[in-house]
Amino acid sequence: MWVAKTIEEARRHRQQVSGRVALVPTMGALHKGHAKLIEAAKITGCEVVVSIFVNPTQFAPGEDYDRYPRRLDEDLALCRQGGVVGVFCPTMQQMYPPGQPGCELEVGLLSNQLEGEHRPGHFAGVCRVVAKLLNIIEPDIACFGQKDYQQLKVVQAMVEDLAMSVRIMGCQTVREEDGLACSSRNVRLGLQARRHAVGLYRALMEAKMLVEQDGESDPGVVEAAMVQAMCVYQIETDYAVIRHPHSLAPLDCIEPRLTGGVVALVAGVIDGVRLIDNMLLGQSAVEA
Ligand code: PAJ
Repeated sequence: MWVAKTIEEARRHRQQVSGRVALVPTMGALHKGHAKLIEAAKITGCEVVVSIFVNPTQFAPGEDYDRYPRRLDEDLALCRQGGVVGVFCPTMQQMYPPGQPGCELEVGLLSNQLEGEHRPGHFAGVCRVVAKLLNIIEPDIACFGQKDYQQLKVVQAMVEDLAMSVRIMGCQTVREEDGLACSSRNVRLGLQARRHAVGLYRALMEAKMLVEQDGESDPGVVEAAMVQAMCVYQIETDYAVIRHPHSLAPLDCIEPRLTGGVVALVAGVIDGVRLIDNMLLGQSAVEA
């Protein structure tokens, strides 16, 4: 497995890969969710390249950039075990050379709400680094988790609008046994916070039951139930909403008996750690 720290090295290795390439972009501290993305990428028949870079431009001032877990040696071992062909783990200098004017990328309406509203500049930073990684590795496929649903939609929209020649593949969310979505930030949860964190999943399951079993059609009722469920677990709610699965626009009504499908998205802070999760409800749960 090659490990490239510069853009030049990565390009040289990339050119030597025969066959199709799938890129799995990550910020490291790899867990079962990332391992599943690698596995899904391999199933496509591609050689898999993983990128590991904690991207400063997607963290707003005062967020946890400095406290974000960094474990390169363990990450490289996981990649080796996963049969990855190469890892691109660039230095800051490589990705953001000092003194260079930066390029800003915005994906209009999709970026400015939900995570974008709570984390100003977040998606501009995500788009900038993802576009750069795609330009360096030139993969045929790039894999993103549905765990970061809005990110997946923003990246899909960017690639489509800029006619980038890569297929974006969405992969299902991997969860711990109790339902908590795997996340690099989970290691920062204390024992009690870890117990409370499952409230995000419980809120989503409550929404699923209301929509799929009870046929609830009022988004307001489902959203209130999610907030209530998160409250029980002492989660400070940033948002708990029902949205259109593609545009992420608010809905007046949830289509009766699941004809359209909706996405439920939640975000909240548990003992200083901010976590997000989501679930597709109804028909699009199988389309994703
Ligand atoms: P990171 O949080 O490391 O996640 C890397 C990829 O793993 C993303 O596509 C994310 O959606 C996916 N992922 C994380 N947890 C998952 C889980 N429990 N199940 C399935 N997939 C999961 O997302 C980023 O990094 C960054 O924003 C990045 C795209 C690398 C740009 O810097």
